[in-house]
Amino acid sequence: MTSRGIAAAAAVFAIALPGAAQAQGPPGQASTPGAPGVGDPYFPEEGNGGYDVRNYDLTLGYDPATDHLDGLALIKARATQTLGSFHLDLTGLDVHSVKVDDVPARFERSGQELIVTPHNRLRERSTFTVAVDYGGTPATIVGSPIVFGSPYGFLHTDDGNFIGAEPNAANTWFPGNDHPSDKATHVFRVTVPAGKSVIANGKLVSQETSGDKSTFTWEELDPMATYLATVDTGNWVFKNGTTPGGVPETVAVDPTLIQSQANAVDFFYDTTAEATDYLATQFGPYPFMATGAIADNATYNGRALGFSLETQTRPVYSAVRSTTTIAHELSHQWFGDSVSVADWHNIWLNEGFATFAEYLWLDHKGTRTAQQSFNADYSRPASSSFWRIVVADPQRDTMFASAVYRRGGMTLQALRTKIGDGPFFEILRTWAAEHRHGNGSTDQFIALAKRISGQDLDPFFQTWLYTPQKPTSW
Ligand code: TRP
Ligand code: ZN
Repeated sequence: MTSRGIAAAAAVFAIALPGAAQAQGPPGQASTPGAPGVGDPYFPEEGNGGYDVRNYDLTLGYDPATDHLDGLALIKARATQTLGSFHLDLTGLDVHSVKVDDVPARFERSGQELIVTPHNRLRERSTFTVAVDYGGTPATIVGSPIVFGSPYGFLHTDDGNFIGAEPNAANTWFPGNDHPSDKATHVFRVTVPAGKSVIANGKLVSQETSGDKSTFTWEELDPMATYLATVDTGNWVFKNGTTPGGVPETVAVDPTLIQSQANAVDFFYDTTAEATDYLATQFGPYPFMATGAIADNATYNGRALGFSLETQTRPVYSAVRSTTTIAHELSHQWFGDSVSVADWHNIWLNEGFATFAEYLWLDHKGTRTAQQSFNADYSRPASSSFWRIVVADPQRDTMFASAVYRRGGMTLQALRTKIGDGPFFEILRTWAAEHRHGNGSTDQFIALAKRISGQDLDPFFQTWLYTPQKPTSW
């Protein structure tokens, strides 16, 4: 489900040559390698060109005692061009073999690129399955400035593991087309030592124990960006049900969190239900088949992580978090997960919207009005470096800067007061509906806002999203 054109991918290919081997094909035909990236301005190597993934079927074994992951990834994809070779993203780990349509393929590795040369050239528009047999100890990303300096990706916890991979860490635990422009369905078949359990995205379709191993199969059958996939193993206390609004809900909480907060399971369960149903009254129908929470006791080198991520259908939390954080992560189910960024420079479409959802949530709870939240954020002095970030293009290492969140949220509240609640909420609901299970860009959002409000909002968005100064009139 790729939304970017081949032109953009081809441009990147010219910059980063993979040096892929040639597939066998009729003599005299031009080499037809798939591009190593999709042209993301912040992450040129993320994603790949020439195909479109339909489904990831991951058979995994994880042993918390050794931190070792074994994987067989079956990737079903459709070629969008003739392919003599193509790339997958994969960082670290060992690749034992690669097959394409059951035929052994040649492969080589170069940085995060796994370059596959199938025995037979793949025809444009044909569907094929890549099987990658791999394994090793996934590396946590540390020291990168991208996620406010926090370790992220695959975390090895006391009792298992915990995954939060935004924006570029899915390829540290499975091979794929690691960019939100290519969404796919996911199946996770995960085997762990008996006594441990597994929570992941979507719904649990089977669970069986034989001998000293247990296997859990989870399925997310709505399209999902790779970074929103999570598979978390360990000791879990589960609570299942349905929200009053009718959304199936599963919560999993690490029992060590319950030791310090006795009501942790009910707290996550009840807050998630309330926020899921409340946000649906604001943004339109909940976009997925389940909601929930995964709350772990996650540390890195003994230090607590400030870790919450909007993993699809079921956000992850590295400890017990506030109701506002829970509402924030659930608002991403609409803005981020269902409507995903076309590329990463549009990140304010996730974080600004989730911050605005916090404003709504605090208003709903009677804590303060959305305008009071706006006022508090706006009160930062004009001299603050906060106002220097261009929200619509914050740059890679500052893509999660607080301005992307708070100024992004202020932008929506300012728009609301400018055009009125009627058109404003119609814009949000139309955005969620028209791009449901797809992608969106800032330009598309601005065009929609202009269409629904009937106003020329270019100066407004220029001031709020593109000018590195504190807005004074709009
Ligand atoms: N999207 C997260 C939020 O706003 C922040 C985040 C980015 C994150 N990358 C992450 C959290 C990686 C955990 C892991 O809630
Ligand atoms: Zn967020």
